[in-house]
Amino acid sequence: MALILGIETSCDETAAAVVQDGCKILSSVVASQVVLHAQYGGVFPEIASREHVLKIVPVIDEAMREAKIAFDDLDAIAVTYGPGLAGSLLVGVNAAKAITFARDLPLIGVNHLEGHLYATWLEAAGATVGIPATEEQFPLIALIVSGGHSEIVLMRGHGDYELLGHTLDDAAGEAFDKVARLLGLSYPGGPAIQKAAEQGSPTAFKLPRAWLRGTYDFSFSGLKTAVLHLVQSFEGKKRVPVADIAASFQTAVADVLVDKTRQAAEEFRARQIVLAGGVSANAHLRKMMLARSQAPVSIPPIKLCVDNGAMIAAAAWRHFERGERSGWELDVVPALKLQSKVDSRQ
Ligand code: KG4
Ligand code: ZN
Repeated sequence: MALILGIETSCDETAAAVVQDGCKILSSVVASQVVLHAQYGGVFPEIASREHVLKIVPVIDEAMREAKIAFDDLDAIAVTYGPGLAGSLLVGVNAAKAITFARDLPLIGVNHLEGHLYATWLEAAGATVGIPATEEQFPLIALIVSGGHSEIVLMRGHGDYELLGHTLDDAAGEAFDKVARLLGLSYPGGPAIQKAAEQGSPTAFKLPRAWLRGTYDFSFSGLKTAVLHLVQSFEGKKRVPVADIAASFQTAVADVLVDKTRQAAEEFRARQIVLAGGVSANAHLRKMMLARSQAPVSIPPIKLCVDNGAMIAAAAWRHFERGERSGWELDVVPALKLQSKVDSRQ
């Protein structure tokens, strides 16, 4: 049995969790900074890192208390070292290094995107939507959609990633956040658009979809500009039809994400589709992916789609089992790409 403390501070959540054998969550604590950033309509990097400094020790303490274990019971400490905001990542990496040094524990640097993927393997009280991820379902196609990334990844086994496509401009979550701002909705935009869309019609407005045929790449900037022009066309009128625009936009994003993922699954004869990252919390996207995919679909429960420490510990456990460790020189890598090995320049 291996107990890993996972620490996550890449963006605007200070998070820590204790996970047993990469799947059983003993504790998971997330301190969200959403209210602090809402007034800026996005994450304010300096405020984020300062807040991480204030929260990191209490959050780790609480995760340990909830798990009812002592530091000496841990087998390793895992931490996100990229991609993300440099000043935010530094807080988590330094905290992880301090504890591993003091307790003589192994340190495992984890790619945030790999963390999102491994949220699918967390056994969150059977709350995974669709089918549970199991060992037999490779090759699989993963769609990782978050505030900073939109990627389609082919996995032929654990820790084996081949990037098939990515966004050429805005990430899906970024598009949700920017369009929410255009519509005067609150930050973060994803949940706000989802809520507004509940009252609207997805066919009210015909918005563009960038299919980029022959590739697995995405582009959302044209869609965002189309929404801007649509909103401007209502200037001077009594009311902007926010709900209809939100529903039409949400459907346009989901159409492209689902279709491309499904195509990739067919081409690579995937035995499973995994949906991960903050945008995978979107109810419409979840529903469409489950309805339109022929391959079985696995989506983490909503609270594990958005940033948390448990997913970092889950991904780290795979590295731990393979004997992969990070050295003291582990540094933050804000533009880190998904890669198949742990950063272990020893
Ligand atoms: O993975 P995440 O928590 O942080 C990053 O790694 O970026 O993703 C945050 C993103 C934000 O852009 C947020 O608007 C989006 O996920 N998001 C959603 C929903 N919940 C969060 N987008 C659409 N629908 C949602 N329900
Ligand atoms: Zn994330």
